Amino acid sequence: MVDVILGLQWGDEGKGKIVDYFAPNYDVIARFQGGPNAGHTLYVEGKKVVLHQIPSGIFHKDKINLIGNGVVLDVVTLMKECATVKAMGVDYKKNLYISERTHLILPTHRALDKASEISKGHDKIGSTLKGIGPTYMDKTGRNGLRVGDILSKDFSARYNNIKAKHQQLLDNYHFQEEVTFAEDIAAWEKEFLTAIEELKTFNIVNGEYFINDLINKGKKVLAEGAQGSMLDVDFGTFPFVTSSNTISAGVCTGLGIAPQKIKEVFGVSKAYCTRVGSGPFPTELHDATGELIRKIGSEFGSTTGRPRRCGWIDLVSLQFACMINGVTQIIMTKTDILDSLPELKVCTAFNVDGKEENCVPFQMHGLPIDPVYKSFEGWQTDITAIDNYAALPVKMKEYINYINTYLKVPVKYISNGPGRDQIVVA
Ligand code: GDP
Ligand code: IMO
Ligand code: MG
Repeated sequence: MVDVILGLQWGDEGKGKIVDYFAPNYDVIARFQGGPNAGHTLYVEGKKVVLHQIPSGIFHKDKINLIGNGVVLDVVTLMKECATVKAMGVDYKKNLYISERTHLILPTHRALDKASEISKGHDKIGSTLKGIGPTYMDKTGRNGLRVGDILSKDFSARYNNIKAKHQQLLDNYHFQEEVTFAEDIAAWEKEFLTAIEELKTFNIVNGEYFINDLINKGKKVLAEGAQGSMLDVDFGTFPFVTSSNTISAGVCTGLGIAPQKIKEVFGVSKAYCTRVGSGPFPTELHDATGELIRKIGSEFGSTTGRPRRCGWIDLVSLQFACMINGVTQIIMTKTDILDSLPELKVCTAFNVDGKEENCVPFQMHGLPIDPVYKSFEGWQTDITAIDNYAALPVKMKEYINYINTYLKVPVKYISNGPGRDQIVVA
């Protein structure tokens, strides 16, 4: 049996905290897509940790954590992260496993990511510059190197071959300003080759047999999504998206499990909305309220430190995300950030050229989308210490009930602080 936790917005919904909260109920926690573009924040005994590559179940000692084939792996980031968790008492050599089909992010992928972004100028995606796009391109283009390849004798030759191909691509870019990659690549390559040697000592497994054997033995798997549904390469706000399928369908291809094994799909949404990087965001606030939410919510990227764009919750996009993912339960996070606001708004429709729409269009950018809002009175109460649903403010329940009714999917958990135990079951 497999349950899924994934983001319903543009990422950073609080998936890391939620996976850490649910991990005790599972035997295996598995990442199925994305790479070090993800930044999943957990608080472990009061200490803040941001995980980029390792699944968020790593601090639960008896659990298996699997990096699935659908992930793209930056080995240098992985080694740094392993050192961090080891210092916190985690025996990662025992409970971390990596699929041999997982694609490797090479130093030249990072350079290509940067080159692509510079060449796009004003139209840049706002990529995290971790090499995600170029690595997935080499996967679908059938050029990439995989974790299993590091054990073969010709790894070095194959690495040099692909590096030379990438160099040719880089040489074809002509920028207005002087941009050089050679120094970056040389420095990254040194760390990369050292990390590859270390990777050989890890638990490298045939991920699909590994996970299916565990499922057949009755073990419970929690699949951990990265990014969010609106960043999905097919269904997100293309081209301002990431390069993987972030939605529940990605669990099957990213781990090698059959669709009928999936049971619950937990969709995580903030009580408002944020986006980091470029691209459309109909409910974005460019005013003092947006500033206030950013400040109270500490809305700065966990991976890049960039300020996150903030706005009201967008029910049109959320309903779309629930449909695409087959969400069975919603987990609403960061509700406490709205504690002091006198008025809250939820977007119930998009007004496009005078016509009200309830669907996410093929393309949002370039469309004059004017969100239609319903207003709510804020609860103006500190909810961070509340640990049961009955004790939540009535006005907050009205806000949540409206969202339940609109989405036709229940909000089953309400997160009211970053701590592991700050969560209320509805
Ligand atoms: P992820 O990428 O989805 O795992 O989310 P991030 O870790 O990038 O960003 C979520 C941020 O919100 C982190 O700093 C979390 O510690 C924090 N967080 C998660 N849930 C809550 C919550 O309910 N309340 C507050 N105040 N912070 C939260
Ligand atoms: P988590 O898992 C928020 C955004 C980037 C950029 C776009 C493409 O922490 O929620 P990429 O590096 O993938 O080529 O960038 O996607 N992005 C994220 N935004 N949270 C993330 O991950 C993200 N991963 C990528 O900002 O707009
Ligand atoms: Mg994040």
